[in-house]
Amino acid sequence: MTGSPSARDIWRPGFHLLPPAGWVNDPNGLCQFEGTYHVFCQCSPDWPALDATRGWGHLTSRDLVTWEWQGMALMPDTADDATGAYSGSAFVGDDGLLHLVYTGNVKLPGKHDYITSGRLANQIEVTSADGEHLSSKRVVLRNADYPSWCSCHVRDPKVWRQAGTLHMLLGARGLDSEGAALVYRSDDDGATWELEEEVRPGTPGAFGYMWECPDRVSLDGHEYLAFCPQGLEHGHLRFQNVYQSGYVPLEDRLLSADAMAEDGVPLRHVDVDDFREWDLGFDFYAPQTFATDDGRTVLIGWAGLPDVPYGNPTGELGWMHCLTVPRELTRGSNGTVCQRPVGELARLRGNEAPLLDDEVTFEHGRFDLEVTGITASSWKVTLAAASNGSVVLACDDGSLTLAFDGTAGDGRDVRRAHVGHVDDLRILCDRSIMEVYLDGGATVMTTRWYPSTSAVRLDVSCGDAETHVWPMADVMSEALAGTR
Ligand code: FRU
Repeated sequence: MTGSPSARDIWRPGFHLLPPAGWVNDPNGLCQFEGTYHVFCQCSPDWPALDATRGWGHLTSRDLVTWEWQGMALMPDTADDATGAYSGSAFVGDDGLLHLVYTGNVKLPGKHDYITSGRLANQIEVTSADGEHLSSKRVVLRNADYPSWCSCHVRDPKVWRQAGTLHMLLGARGLDSEGAALVYRSDDDGATWELEEEVRPGTPGAFGYMWECPDRVSLDGHEYLAFCPQGLEHGHLRFQNVYQSGYVPLEDRLLSADAMAEDGVPLRHVDVDDFREWDLGFDFYAPQTFATDDGRTVLIGWAGLPDVPYGNPTGELGWMHCLTVPRELTRGSNGTVCQRPVGELARLRGNEAPLLDDEVTFEHGRFDLEVTGITASSWKVTLAAASNGSVVLACDDGSLTLAFDGTAGDGRDVRRAHVGHVDDLRILCDRSIMEVYLDGGATVMTTRWYPSTSAVRLDVSCGDAETHVWPMADVMSEALAGTR
């Protein structure tokens, strides 16, 4: 595999999480354990080697700003997770230990479609007293433990504690190719699990064939079911990406079924019309949330998607993808979940950069832009590379577009949203990744882009709005230097 990224790598993010080399996708096992933040993530260190194994990489932080790479925490090294230590989550047990629960993916040899046969989906637990050294692996659920209507696609356990009891959400694909979620419950603090509720689409055929990475979010006493449905029909302003990632605001608790399934298990229906996307940009999927010790709910997503029709040229440099910054979640109007970069990130700001004729150039492609008090109904922010084009965020009477001009988007074209009047915007740009937050994070768009030079020119045309912009520090290069 290629070694650590070189200094010539002008696309390498400086404050977005990623491993030193290789491939990264979903964030896993997010938690704050004994004061330390842990971000595990799906990593293939030997990517792009054929059959590169997929396990859990591990980063830690004391402040959500500076990080340390701890190496690979979990690798597929048993018969129960032979083809991958897939996504999962963390919880602290009554035993005071950190528990990590993940899916051991096993593809059996032979002639299989790997949907209805040939795949084991083992939910596996390991524990740790210090967040670093892990116990041996213990399978807690196997294919035989799932309802008979499930295919072999059952994965991504998200465990949470509610009124003292542990519950586990799993994403699933039915044999009828309907997405679904399963909720298990443990009355012995994770030793054994029992099916408690099934969540299925209200209208058959409308909510995709598979739901990945389910999560349960609770904000101000309101619950949300989050997941990533695959196979939704694309719309003009909705579901513009290959797969979706969002949440359904629940009117009551997740665990209050509205029906009884044929197998006698309480059943809850959710409707695709109630589904809201987390992020309307080109590159966002498989987020996970966790609670901080100071009571915040924080989300981190994968700034990427599988099977996209556009490119990411960093493969030639030996690395692929990164995570989003940590985003604090709050409940906004109409039950919308607002996402804002955690306040700690402001510590990475350098001296405010003056704009001259609305323009400023950032030599290292990293900045934090804040525009408040927008009164104009039409405005535009352009980020231009020296020779391969630009990306333009524009609003015209409530119609928002994030559009590429030239080749810097590597095949990305345009993403649209209807936003009404926009009061404020924030853009965090970290070389090849840009996160856009509008109206206090009520609308968010994340995209990768690949400028031809390290220096990029920012042009802010937002009328008489108040504009501040700061260069942002690179904390990841140092954190990852010399590590593997
Ligand atoms: C989502 C996902 C998960 C799976 C993991 C494998 O991106 O497909 O469902 O556990 O990635 O890396």
